[in-house]
Amino acid sequence: MEFPYRKLLFSLSLFSLSTISALSRSSFSPIDNYLVDCGSTAESTVDNRRFVPDSSKPDSSLSSSTRSISLRNENPVPNSPQIYSTARAFRRPSKYEFQIRDAGTHMVRLHFQTFNSLKLDWNDAQFHVLVNGFVALTDFRAAKIPMVMEFLIWVDTKKLVIEFVPAKKSNFAFVNAIEVISAPKDLVADTAKFVSDDKSENFNGLIKQALQVVYRVNVGGSKVTPFNDSLWRTWVTDDEYLESDSGSERVYFGGRINYQDGGASREVGPDNVYNTARLIHSSNASIPNVNMTWVFPAVGGYKYLVRLHFCDIASISIGLLYFNVYVNGKLAYENLDLSMATNYMLASPFYADFVVDGEESGVLSVSAGPSNMSMPYAIDGILNGIEIMRLNNSMGSLDGKHCAGWVLRNWPKANVGAAVPLVAAACLLLSISLVMRRRMSGKDFVGWSKLPTSVSEVNLKHGNTQLSVK
Ligand SMILES: *[C@@H]1O[C@H](CO)[C@@H](O)[C@H](O)[C@H]1NC(C)=O
Ligand SMILES: *[C@@H]1O[C@H](CO)[C@@H](O)[C@H](O)[C@H]1NC(C)=O
Ligand SMILES: *[C@@H]1O[C@H](CO)[C@@H](O)[C@H](O)[C@H]1NC(C)=O
Ligand SMILES: *[C@@H]1O[C@H](CO)[C@@H](O)[C@H](O)[C@H]1NC(C)=O
Ligand SMILES: *[C@@H]1O[C@H](CO)[C@@H](O)[C@H](O)[C@H]1NC(C)=O
Repeated sequence: MEFPYRKLLFSLSLFSLSTISALSRSSFSPIDNYLVDCGSTAESTVDNRRFVPDSSKPDSSLSSSTRSISLRNENPVPNSPQIYSTARAFRRPSKYEFQIRDAGTHMVRLHFQTFNSLKLDWNDAQFHVLVNGFVALTDFRAAKIPMVMEFLIWVDTKKLVIEFVPAKKSNFAFVNAIEVISAPKDLVADTAKFVSDDKSENFNGLIKQALQVVYRVNVGGSKVTPFNDSLWRTWVTDDEYLESDSGSERVYFGGRINYQDGGASREVGPDNVYNTARLIHSSNASIPNVNMTWVFPAVGGYKYLVRLHFCDIASISIGLLYFNVYVNGKLAYENLDLSMATNYMLASPFYADFVVDGEESGVLSVSAGPSNMSMPYAIDGILNGIEIMRLNNSMGSLDGKHCAGWVLRNWPKANVGAAVPLVAAACLLLSISLVMRRRMSGKDFVGWSKLPTSVSEVNLKHGNTQLSVK
């Protein structure tokens, strides 16, 4: 099932895996779909989506949340989504747990916005966030404007755990809202092309990496909000990242986007992304000698997944469009032939995944431009969307050089106890760090699940005894 066309071009092998896209064409309904409004006592509705208060937990483990602090913005910003007017703050490592019914990739979105509150000094809000044993954020500070941090996490256990750890004893952690949503099965493919100078090879095992979405760009188009996206994503415009707009132009297509089975599905990219693009076009007998280039700040020391979305909404006929694609200045795809990649249909979406090493320069670039098969009087390059995701490093971290076990043990109180001798070992063995993490979970456990979890109760008790040994 995985790559039936292995013998054919790379393009075909990337041509997405499943027929699920066909089933979910009308509207995607995730099996796991948790929308939690933290610190709130009432439901909030944002873009027709209901966020349920974290205090509404039916079973008794909520009582343990008394150690957390619920915060309310007394002067909410008008028109700001309701979820940002409350928050839950934690002075000790604390966690939310979500029952997972649908094994596979999950989208985890964390919403943060600081506001004035008499209860706490927001200068003290600095913390780490762990998701299922991966370090998602380190020494994180939120801002006065809403920030949404999005992660794609593979879950094959019965629950997903999000842990908030104050950076120092005087700090606190907080969160305004949490989304945990099972992703469509075709959202993350397991294989991408690894782009490097010397060799051409695949990067395998992508699906089990923790990914952080760092950029999601609707090239040539307008901003797409969660309201208009099949998976409630936000796609920003490309203006800020486009190196120069000379030599290329925007295009808008008013017709129908031809989603095909086996191609990019509407969940991979919505109509609003595929019906706009930026392109290079030849209006006379010569082929423009120019690239379109987008440049993104990207911290070095991590690998990045670069997903490029294409849809030929501009050619007058099939078989006229050939171009090259570069990532970090390296040839990623030579003579991309969208007609062939889409089974000879115009306006049919296609995406290609590339993995690159983040460079020390701290920038990641994407270019598209004519190839030596490009034709005059034709379109000679097109790009509709760019997504850039950071892969966890070898420490299981998306933010820094420390593993989850280290982060937890570094929290002042947790330094006491049997855990210390294991610090080094745990950093090498995530399995050990997972066990330690449960032990450290402490009293501030805030469960959030519809079903009672006997396992977590056991862990909770264990945590209490652990921490009482001061
Ligand atoms: C959703 O998309 C439609 C059509 O592209 C557009 O008219 C509308 O303004 C969008 N709404 C939001 C909230 O983005
Ligand atoms: C083709 O058009 C471009 C600008 O559109 C111009 O710069 C170039 O000189 C033209 N080439 C020829 C051969 O006319
Ligand atoms: C386009 O970019 C690639 C990679 O940086 C480069 O090798 C090529 O020369 C560029 N083409 C033009 C016309 O600038
Ligand atoms: C096409 O370009 C590649 C490099 O991008 C080069 O190796 C090859 O020789 C070129 N082919 C032709 C027919 O010019
Ligand atoms: C991400 O974390 C996993 C599990 O800890 C590890 O197997 C994998 O090698 C890491 N990815 C990278 C690119 O180091």
